[in-house]
This record gives sequence, C-alpha cells and structure tokens, in this order.
Amino acid sequence: MLNVSSLALRRSGARGTGRVLSTLAFGVAAFSAHLGGKLSFDYGIRVNRTAWERPRDRFLPVLDESELEGGKLCRVDLEGVHVLVARSERTGEVCAIANTCTHLGGPLADGERDGDTVICPWHQSRFDLCTGAVEAGPAVYAEPRYEARVRAGKVEVRAAREG
Ligand code: FES
Repeated sequence: MLNVSSLALRRSGARGTGRVLSTLAFGVAAFSAHLGGKLSFDYGIRVNRTAWERPRDRFLPVLDESELEGGKLCRVDLEGVHVLVARSERTGEVCAIANTCTHLGGPLADGERDGDTVICPWHQSRFDLCTGAVEAGPAVYAEPRYEARVRAGKVEVRAAREG
C-alpha cells in the first residue's frame, strides 16, 4: 500500500511525499524480514520447536527408576533440555523423547498417555513414546529420541546417536 501510494504521489508530482512513503515502505519490509527471521531461527515458530535442542552426548542420571511406576510420564531436565521419560507398556523398556512438542512447543509430560503414545495437551498431536514418531497431527516432525538405560536403580538418558 505504501509503495503503490508512493507511486501514485510521484506520478502526480508530489515527489517529496512519495519518497517519504517509499522510505516508510522500506522500513516496514526490513522490520518484517527481521521479525520473520527472529521467529523462525530463534524460536522455531512453524519450523520445529526442538530444532535447537543440543543435549550432551553422554549418559546422565535423571530420575529414580521407581518414579516411572504406574505408567507415569516424567519430565526430566537433561542439562537444560526437557526430556519426557516413560516405561513402555508393550516391551517394558524405558523410553525417552523430547518433552517439547515439535508443533508449537506444548509440554508433552502434561499430556495424556494412551498406551505407548502421548497426546499433546495443546492441539492433540500424538507421538510414539519410544520412537518419537508422529502418530497423529497437526505436528509433522517427529520428536527427537533419546537413549535411556537403568543403572543401579537410576534412569540415565543421553541424546540418541542415530543419523
Ligand atoms: S503444541 Fe503440541 S500439538 Fe500443537
């Protein structure tokens, strides 16, 4: 609108006002580009909310194994990254995936468990608790998977080494 108005003003001879509008249009476009970059590259909006999680590649103890009883979904902190830990009903293994929903960042540990899947509390995306695979949208990106093991009654977790 600013550029079209600027063009019209310049054609009618009001070149000064046209330049002002054109400069304003440039400012708006530059601000929009900055805002878009900030939302995408800093916050992962509409990209993948776990894209910038970089946990260290070594096992760390995160909770007592007994806390997983009763099919509980446990949110743990792995050096600043939130991870969801649960025991598989199917195989009995301890599984771990990112706790931040890849859709818009919902906290999966606050979601509902359905068998070996978790349903995000914000928009009901469904993820496999062991593989992180998307079972139902709106999310399109799988949750990052973590390796989990039990040592001396403690659950230990690290970033998965695949890929
Ligand atoms: S934030 Fe999880 S489905 Fe939207």
